[in-house]
Amino acid sequence: MKVFGICSGRKGGNTEILMAQAFKGVLSVDPNAEVEFVNLQEAKIDPCVGCEACVKAHIAGKTDFRCSQGENHDNFQDIELKMRAADAIIVSAPCYNLLPPGILITWLNKLHSGGDYRKITLSPDGWKIGAAFSLGGTDWTDYMPNVVRMVVEELIGGYRGLVDYEQFDFYPATRMVLVDDALMDRMLLMGQRVANAVINRKPGDKEAEYHGQPGFCPYCYSNLLRVNPDGRVFCPQCNIEATPEVVDGRLKITFTQENLDKSRWSPYGQNLHNTNIQKGHKKAAEGAEKIKADFPAYNDFLKDHRMILPERH
Ligand SMILES: Cc1cc2nc3c(=O)[nH]c(=O)nc-3n(C[C@H](O)[C@H](O)[C@H](O)COP(=O)(O)O)c2cc1C
Repeated sequence: MKVFGICSGRKGGNTEILMAQAFKGVLSVDPNAEVEFVNLQEAKIDPCVGCEACVKAHIAGKTDFRCSQGENHDNFQDIELKMRAADAIIVSAPCYNLLPPGILITWLNKLHSGGDYRKITLSPDGWKIGAAFSLGGTDWTDYMPNVVRMVVEELIGGYRGLVDYEQFDFYPATRMVLVDDALMDRMLLMGQRVANAVINRKPGDKEAEYHGQPGFCPYCYSNLLRVNPDGRVFCPQCNIEATPEVVDGRLKITFTQENLDKSRWSPYGQNLHNTNIQKGHKKAAEGAEKIKADFPAYNDFLKDHRMILPERH
């Protein structure tokens, strides 16, 4: 089996050490496993510039293309090829400003540029297994669980293959995870869960068993809620309307099956998303004359107010 890890913290730092420990867990189950990771901090990843060439190609049903920035323009494709070949992906991130480091999202933003990118999320052998962990210097890490799990979800094509996730707080100094035996054991277990899930996964299985940090959403295990102005409450990750109740002074969140079936990841949700994109483009096409007439004045205004950036190398 091949397990590929994604790190985005300090070289030789906490998340890299925890990734090594997870790999040791994989190897304790399958000594022949191939384990490899990339630290995105070391990679050259140029940001997606939003040209939408890949989106337009997808809409036209074409998948045999690469990013308009050019093949091997940066390390995106090198990493993507490793992911394609992997049976399991482990994503890790330290917390930067309550979120994962920007480089992880910069890299994720380019996923659509990989042509038949949906295939990246399938393993050579069926569906991919995923796990993730994240770590903060304190407990100022509130967005981490949901964002990091969302990243894995993008990379393995849904939550069905997610077997483990954990957020670790109060590790500010580099390499200090090494003083915490319980944490190191937990990471060994994460690696073992990943390897066992790869071994036990069958093409017809509905989903792998999730053992990670619990949450109220049965799909993404979210622990965050979105409250709409009208008072309706949603899992923001899956966009599923929740049924909130207060039981013994505590909030209890449940979901009806009808609402669960409307998750943004379901065929219903995907279809709605595609329809909404098409609606947006239709509106733009209908207003093309107005856009053409009004834009030059805005462009002149923008030119006059755009910051002149000194050249840096
Ligand atoms: C730019 C920056 C922002 C950070 N912001 C947070 C934060 O919002 N919350 C937090 O708990 N830790 C924060 N930290 C601390 C790191 O998450 C912590 O040091 C972690 O151990 C780094 O992992 P690493 O050794 O794998 O790089 C921040 C660190 C940096 C460099």
